[in-house]
Order: sequence, then C-alpha cells, then structure tokens
Amino acid sequence: MRLLVLPVAAAILLASCGENGIRDPWKNPKIAVERRAEDLLRRLTTEEKLDLLSGDGFMSSHGVPRLGVPAIKMADGPVGIRTWAMPVSPARPGEPQTVHATAFPAGIAMGATWNPDLVAQEAQVIAQEALALGRNQVLGPTVNIARTPLWGRNFEGYGEDPWLTSRMAVSYIEAMQAEGVIPTVKHFAANNQETRRNTINVQVDQRTLEEIYLPAFRAAVEEAGVWSVMSSYNKVNGAWAAENPNLLNEILRKRWGFKGYVVSDWASTHSTAPTVNAGMDLEMPGPNVMPALKDLLKNFPGGNPGFDGGYLERSKLKVLVDSGQITKETVDESVRRILRILFISGIIDRSLTPETPKETPGVDTPAQRAIARKAADQSIVLLKNERNLLPLDPQKIHTVALIGPNAEFNRLGGGGSSAVNPDYSWKPADGIRERAAGKLQINYALGVAMEGEKEPAPAANLLKEAADLATRSDLAIVFVGFSAALEGEMADRKSLSLPAGQDDLIQAVARANKNTIVVINSGSPVDVTKWASQVPGIVEAWYLGQEGGHAIADVLFGDYNPSGKLPVTFPKSMADSFAPVDAPEVEYKEGIFVGYRHFDRKNIEPAFPFGHGLSYTTFAYSDLTLTPVSPRYGQTVTVGVKVTNTGSRAGAEVVQVYIHDVKFSVERPVKELKAFQRVELKPGESKLVTMTLDRHSMWFYDPLVKDWAAEPGEFDVLVGASSRDIRLKGLFTLYE
Ligand code: BGC
Repeated sequence: MRLLVLPVAAAILLASCGENGIRDPWKNPKIAVERRAEDLLRRLTTEEKLDLLSGDGFMSSHGVPRLGVPAIKMADGPVGIRTWAMPVSPARPGEPQTVHATAFPAGIAMGATWNPDLVAQEAQVIAQEALALGRNQVLGPTVNIARTPLWGRNFEGYGEDPWLTSRMAVSYIEAMQAEGVIPTVKHFAANNQETRRNTINVQVDQRTLEEIYLPAFRAAVEEAGVWSVMSSYNKVNGAWAAENPNLLNEILRKRWGFKGYVVSDWASTHSTAPTVNAGMDLEMPGPNVMPALKDLLKNFPGGNPGFDGGYLERSKLKVLVDSGQITKETVDESVRRILRILFISGIIDRSLTPETPKETPGVDTPAQRAIARKAADQSIVLLKNERNLLPLDPQKIHTVALIGPNAEFNRLGGGGSSAVNPDYSWKPADGIRERAAGKLQINYALGVAMEGEKEPAPAANLLKEAADLATRSDLAIVFVGFSAALEGEMADRKSLSLPAGQDDLIQAVARANKNTIVVINSGSPVDVTKWASQVPGIVEAWYLGQEGGHAIADVLFGDYNPSGKLPVTFPKSMADSFAPVDAPEVEYKEGIFVGYRHFDRKNIEPAFPFGHGLSYTTFAYSDLTLTPVSPRYGQTVTVGVKVTNTGSRAGAEVVQVYIHDVKFSVERPVKELKAFQRVELKPGESKLVTMTLDRHSMWFYDPLVKDWAAEPGEFDVLVGASSRDIRLKGLFTLYE
C-alpha cells in the first residue's frame, strides 16, 4: 500500500512543478488541503464556480472539465450501492441501468446488532464497492429517528434512540471516509414520516431537536468529521430544510463546525437566493434532468406534490450574483467546501493519476459476502422462545412446515432509493433446506399471498392447505411481514398490523400445531398481540439483505446464537404511540418523549421493550462498580460490570447503560441510553465490561439558557439487558 502511494505522490508532485517549482499547487498532494482548495478556487471562472453548485444528471456533480477537476459520482444508499442511472427509461449512454452490489441488512437491522464495529465493516465494503464501480459519494447513512412505527422509511435508520443511532452513524462514516469515499449523513432534519414528506412543516421545539433528532448529525460532524450532509424535503419550524439558515448555517456550521458540503435531497429546493444564502452548497439532481424527473414522479400515486428543484442552475444563479442578491463570497464559500472535500477524500489526486491500479477488492467478493452474512446473523432478534423450542433439535423434530408469503421470498430491504440489486438473494426456505438436508423433512405451503402479489389459489384453499400441512408436521415456521412494495419510501405503512390476512394465517397454523414459530420481515414494529400468546417462538428478522435465508437458518438451527436487541419499542397498539399526520403541519407535541422515553413516562407496557432480545444461553450481571475518574469534579464515571454466561452455549450479550436524573428542574426521561457494549462469552465465562460516562452523558438541553447543561446532583445508573430488564443499579453524584 505504502509502496504504491509514494511513487504516485511523487509523480503528481513532478507533474505539478513548473520551472519555478510550484506551478499548480492544487495538484500537489504535499501541500495543505486549504491551500490547494484556495489555489484551485482562484483559477475558476464565475461560470465554472456557479456550475459546481448544481448537479449534472441524476447522480453526478459538474466538475471542471477545463482543468480536469473530476465530477463527484454518487450512488445510493445506506446499505449497498444502488444503480445510479435515473429511474426513468433507459440509462444515459455509458451508464448501466442495473448495477450489482452486495446487499446488506437494512439500517434498522444493523441497529439491532448494537455492534458499531460491524457497521464499520459494512461501510468499508460499501466504500470498496463504490470505488470499484467508479463512484465516490454514497448517499447514506440514514440517521432519522423512528418517531412513529408507521414511518415507511424506519427500516433505513437505526431506530428510536439518539445515542444508539449516533454510535452507528459515527462508525459508518469513519469507516467509509477511511476508504476515501464521501458518506452523506441524511436527512437533515426531522424527516420522520413519508406522508406529505415533500411539503410538511414539522413544528418541533429546540430542546426536542437537540436531544432527539439532531444528536446523530452532531456526532457525525463533531466526532466523525463527516464530509457531506443531505438536507431533507420537509420544512422545519416554517422553513424548508434545504433553505433553513438556522439548521445549515447556524447549527451545522457555526455551532458544530461542519467543514464539508450540504447536498439537497433530490428535488427538494424551492428557491435560488434564499437556498444559497441559507447555506446550501449543491443542488441535486441536475437541473438538466429535473423536467424528466418531474414527469416521472407525476405517475406515482398522488403525483408526489411538492417535488421541486432546478433552482441552482448556472443562469439563475448568475442573475442573482450580478444583482448582488447572492454575493460572490457566498458562492466562493460553497465552492470552497466542495473543493475541500474533493481534496480531503483524495478524489482529485486519484483522478490526476488515472493509471493508478484500483486498490479495491472489487464487488461482491467472498470476503464481502461473509460480512453481509455476519451482519445478517447479528441483526436477528429472538423475541420469544418458550419451552426452548429453538434452536431446532433434529433429535426431536423430524418434519418441518414452512408456511407464509416470506418463506420462498427473501425480503432484501424496504422499498425506494436504498434498494440494492445483489447477484443473488438467499431465500429463508432455501437456507433451511440446505441446512436440513438429510436430517429433516421440509415441506412448504404459501398460506396467504402477500398483498399485491399473485394468489395462486383461492384464499380459503391456501389457508386450509397451510393448516393441514402444519397438522402433519412436528413443527411449523410461519414467515410473515411486509414486502418492499408495502414498506418503503414515498408512503407510510397503513397500520401496525401485518398485512394480507397474515394474522389469521398465524392463528390458523398455531391452532393446528402448538410448535409454531413466527419469523417476521419488517422494518419497524408490528402488532403481535393477536397471536403472540398462541405461539411459543417469535423471531424478528427485519430485512436482512442478500444473506437473509442463510442467516435465518443459522439462527433457527443454532449455528449462530441470536444476539440482536430491539432498536425500537414494539407497542401493543397504535393508541400507545404516534402516527404520521396527513395535514400540512405536524407538531411534535410529545417533545423529547419518543420511543421508550414515552412508554416509560406514561408507564405503558410495550409488547416488547427497546433493547429486548433473547439468546439460547443466559447471562448473569454482577459486581457493578461506578468509579468517578475525576472525583473532585465528578466529570467522568467508569461503569464496570461483570457479565457471566450461565448457560451451555457460547453467545453474545449487549450490556446497556441508562441514566436517570434523580432531581431535575426540567422534566427528564425516566431513563436514557448512554452507553452499551456487546460482549461475547463462552459457556461459563465471565468478563468485566467497562464503559465510560462523561459529563455529556448527564447533559440535557436547557431551553431557558438555550444551551446544553448538566445539573449537578445524583444520577441513577441502570445497567440491564433491555430498557425493561434492569439488572443492576448504582448511584453517581455529579458535582458542580
Ligand atoms: C431520497 C434520498 C436519496 C435520493 C437519491 C431521495 O428521494 O430521499 O434518500 O438519496 O432520493 O436517490
């Protein structure tokens, strides 16, 4: 690696030196980025600068062809490289319509791993594939909070908790940037429903923004130094997110110190001068494809009112620059931000030496697939396992009935811009057949067709066939949930319940066979109350990417001991939660009480709590220690806890640390997640797990002083296996 880099640097250096040594400082990788950016900036004509502020085509920026400055080539999305051709008619010449890449589990599934290191491995693979496919910006991660279980895009994000989401985001971003690929943390901000997403005004108070909806973006900027941020479609407190000076200039740049560029979500701009002046740097997609895009979107149900764009086109900008409504300095500032990242990411240097051999492993290699499988394994959450029916025991079980619309279909991911096209997509039924070969007899019945999919026989026949099969079998596994058509971008889910009569199917099968296990594909909670008490086993399998079928078999057979934990609360009913609002405005009246913060505050029992997830082994917690590192100021406390695997199988536990402020001047949640750690333990093994809480862990946003503050006093430190399974409790005092 080193050997390769040095000659390249030397070659660029030589190429950039004229008679007096430094003819083209911007080409010289030895010179500091800021100077290179400044040097390049001053060489650009006004027209070239203005062009940089808008895209060219669906997934590319402009670049500066005269100087050989490359365009930024983008691709969706958070969980794998998606085809970058415009989703209308044939691709542009030379651009493939379909791109194959590794499909990872959905964001919510990655959230369920509680394993930031694994997210880093995933992001590294996505970055490698981006480079191999000639892309250098990835439109992800999605870090919007799951405010309502019905949000169509919950599957893309990491769940309902800002701390868990932040840890995953930081890991993803750092790993991708380490490969020289630009991640794009999105959608900034308060983009929490699809209903009227292009026009809705989100009324949300500052404390709620600061504590719930912004922390992951803030961590992305302050901790990971993220290179790009994507603004959202909606309005926040009356101003479009794409032209929101408070969000873009004030919070993102002045307060957090963001140095990269803001890119608009696709067709989310509504003006020229206000957008540029508010701090937008790059409008996407290019004005040249806006008419075609608008045309395409007309055909979507409801016509998608509110999609707009094409405002930062060069000629429109020029008029306003000439009339002084946009200053030259403002334009320069945006250009500088884009150039800065072109240098930092290495995009310019890579383009200056096109003969450099690709240092990327390629696309969908065995090693990359192995990471996709590991991610899928660790994503699965075992919600219920009575009588230890799982893992399947071939000594006791000989015939297994696979039933349901998701058995012979691998639900890769939710619908919309994050959809990836892998080389193969492993079905649960195939995963199980492969694993059971020669040991178990496997039979299949559809039971019910997924809504919108072909029904091969009358519903009553399908149901009867499934129940009969279950009766004849030792055990039945019902594969239910959603499809990408029913859960995805552009629409919210209609209800918490499973679609297409799947509740009836589960009940019919459970009546026929008491050994019934339900496996769910969903990107968000589902209503399990109609049948949860009738079945001994429930597995949440989210959308697991291309390795879904293998991972489900791994868990059902115990080749992988499940370790996933819910990153979202499963409510018993929508009456216990919040629904998307079909109105011009939504007010986040619940404030900071989102997810388990809401259930705790109202003392509502969820169907399954945040942080819940079972294992085939058991873990004991003991010996809690709280060690203030700087006792005088009480600024940092190290939490130590001994975790022991008390069962007979190796497994992994996610130790969760919540804090509770004992006395407060402004209402605070009953508990807030502030640290967690996944620990792998052999049978009988104990490990001491240590995690650090710093002063920031005790912080809240004080609306009176308009800043973050920590109130000195006592804090409970709650250590547990879920938000409702607190095993140990300690007290910690924060001093002035
Ligand atoms: C989505 C973004 C996506 C973009 C480009 C938009 O509709 O909201 O998340 O990156 O399209 O596909």
